[in-house]
Amino acid sequence: MDNKVSLPKKGTTREQVLKQLEEIHKVDTRWQDGRAFSLVYHAGDEHTEFLKKVYTMYFHENGLNPGAFPSLKKYESEVISIAANLFNGGEHAAGTMTSGGSESIMMAVKTYRDWAFATKGIKAPEMILAQTVHPAFDKALHFFGVTPVVLKVTADQTADVAAVKNAINANTICIVGSAPQYPHGVMDPIVELAKLAKAHGIGLHVDACVGGFMLPFLKKLGRDIPPFDFSVDGVTSISADLHKYGFAAKGASLVIYKDKDLRRYQFFVKKDWPGGLFASPSVTGTRPAGSIAAAWATLTAFGEEGYLNLYRALLETTAQFRTGLEKLGFEIVGNPIGTLLAYESPDTNIFIVADLMEKKGWFVDRQMDPVCIHLTITPAHSPIVGQYLADLKECAAYAKAHPELAGEGLAAMYGMCAKIPDPTMVHQFLYQYMDDRYST
Ligand SMILES: Cc1ncc(COP(=O)(O)O)c(C=O)c1O
Repeated sequence: MDNKVSLPKKGTTREQVLKQLEEIHKVDTRWQDGRAFSLVYHAGDEHTEFLKKVYTMYFHENGLNPGAFPSLKKYESEVISIAANLFNGGEHAAGTMTSGGSESIMMAVKTYRDWAFATKGIKAPEMILAQTVHPAFDKALHFFGVTPVVLKVTADQTADVAAVKNAINANTICIVGSAPQYPHGVMDPIVELAKLAKAHGIGLHVDACVGGFMLPFLKKLGRDIPPFDFSVDGVTSISADLHKYGFAAKGASLVIYKDKDLRRYQFFVKKDWPGGLFASPSVTGTRPAGSIAAAWATLTAFGEEGYLNLYRALLETTAQFRTGLEKLGFEIVGNPIGTLLAYESPDTNIFIVADLMEKKGWFVDRQMDPVCIHLTITPAHSPIVGQYLADLKECAAYAKAHPELAGEGLAAMYGMCAKIPDPTMVHQFLYQYMDDRYST
């Protein structure tokens, strides 16, 4: 039994609790100083203060029942409408807000499963995923009893269209493409995948959780962005996170379908509950109203102009990272389309570099296959590009001179995991990690 903390018999004053929180909070990564490269999307202090005001205004309301809170119905339907227009959805596109990318993905998986059963009688559904899609898909497929067909990607880390074509069979309900995928920020060939989906009468879900509120603006800024949205015949649904590159408060994402008929399969209804008629759009019951209101407020406050200004600056910061990394001899993985990228090294153990960077206070996202470091670049990183690259230069030189460090720290663990072909051992290790994480 490792539950060492019990409810205190007597409470502590709120003032003292706040003091404790401030103290405890000090152990966390300083994302405000650009020290984390995923997890936090910070568009500046002014915007954060604005988000907090909106969120607290709706602190106690509940998105569960818009009957009680018509203002939330307005916000949610307008956020959906704004996104549907941004994604060229036309008048028929329909969606819902969710609590995050994973929930949007879960809902898409449920929708395709139920659609395929109702319209085609498919009882053993399969979904085709490139190995680079977010694990939220594997999780959702596991939860909803759909079999994943996971395919290796091409050398440039994009979905292999020929392999996808070969994998389609009578049980296939949907193909997934990412716009872009998280690990390396590269875009799957959505147009080609859509052609396959259309030809076989199956769904194509585009996971634009990171790209949905970025790519439309990059395109307007003149970037060459291949079509990825409903303008592509064959794209049937899109997930897009407001709480990532939409810069809204956490707990806000969208899943949008080409039409209401498809969205219908997402809903859950029940008529014979003693507690009344029940209808629910997604996984959660109670839904924080703050994140719904803050999403609407963010889109309204930014407008297209606000996002264009933000992305103009962010592209500049990303270019500075790219140039600096290449100058240091690192190689960018694939061809990233926006403000996420990953770098690998031809001659230095990147896991040693990661350990050394963490000693300098950077929170590092290590990746495998290929072995590389991930960067999700946000406005918090504009002031620290020089510092990051200077630290990286020092760490890379030290790592090169000390290859024996591969046997220490996380480098040893990641190095081992990258080499073990049998996943069972690594899975056991991950289960143990989870047990430890929830111990006191
Ligand atoms: C491409 C992509 N899809 C889905 C998700 C899952 O989103 P969330 O963490 O909001 O559940 C992520 C998260 O990083 C992502 O990058």
